[in-house]
Amino acid sequence: MPTASKPALQCDPEIFSRNFNRLPHEVQHALSDNPLFQLPALAKLAQQVAARENPHHSKGDIHVDQGKAISGKTDLREWAKGDIANLINQIESGQTWIILKHIEREPGYREVFENCICDILNLTGKKILEDIKWFEAILFITSPNRVTDYHIDRECSWLLQIQGDKDMHLFDRSDKDILPDEELENYWMVNNLSAVYKPQYESRALVYHLRPGIGVHSPVNTPHWLQNGNNVSVSLNINFQFHEHAWENLFKVNYYLRRTGLKPSPPGKYPFIDHIKSKFYTVFQDVRRSINRSPSVSEQNEARQHYHRIVETLASR
Ligand SMILES: [Fe+2]
Repeated sequence: MPTASKPALQCDPEIFSRNFNRLPHEVQHALSDNPLFQLPALAKLAQQVAARENPHHSKGDIHVDQGKAISGKTDLREWAKGDIANLINQIESGQTWIILKHIEREPGYREVFENCICDILNLTGKKILEDIKWFEAILFITSPNRVTDYHIDRECSWLLQIQGDKDMHLFDRSDKDILPDEELENYWMVNNLSAVYKPQYESRALVYHLRPGIGVHSPVNTPHWLQNGNNVSVSLNINFQFHEHAWENLFKVNYYLRRTGLKPSPPGKYPFIDHIKSKFYTVFQDVRRSINRSPSVSEQNEARQHYHRIVETLASR
């Protein structure tokens, strides 16, 4: 249960209500002293994640990137079998980036995750649950001086710095010079790497110096890149995905409209038109899924049903 005296995640309510899912802003957290996030515990966690028999992702819930030094040696299934704990113990001398996905499935980390989600819901209000598909906690463990390339994500997230420091460069997603609508439409329809870094606009970046106890909220599709400090970094990403009708479908409709030669209005400009577009695409998608016999929301696998249970638990608190 969340502690009433000391929230796991905090943010000035005024700053939060003005900027939530619109602009990046700083938050504070109380996880830096938690022994679950020290390297020996993380080595054990990585082994537990690697040993999952029903991971969320077909190639396992661990991703390892060793940079240019050992490129081409990162078969995810091999890492799932290999000695991931040693990799973490040697991370200070490597060029390694380790991602542990859905760590909320493991004992201890689930409580941390739920406390953070409860604190977020206290700020957003629980009504937002209607628009959320599922939650996730991801852990990033990175070697000194690693750079994470420019990209956008589909999640609404909070990156909480627990150990080490890093600079996070984020951009206003509504700045069309930086993120044209076409790039967003391609991102949702075609390719996860559709957002293109434009160095001429780097001066517009909102740069946050993350250190233990500090985090940043990143709205859905906010462009960003990161530079680690000269130390091992441990960061926890708490995030959720909106249902398709709340965001994703609007870009997909616009993708098709633009291909017919039209210039569709960006999401948010005309809420009524957004509503029509989303309804239309939801029906279109349901028909297509029934024809293709794709799994519907109600037929999702065991791992995803876990998240529906969490949402119900949180809603009842
Ligand atoms: Fe990201």
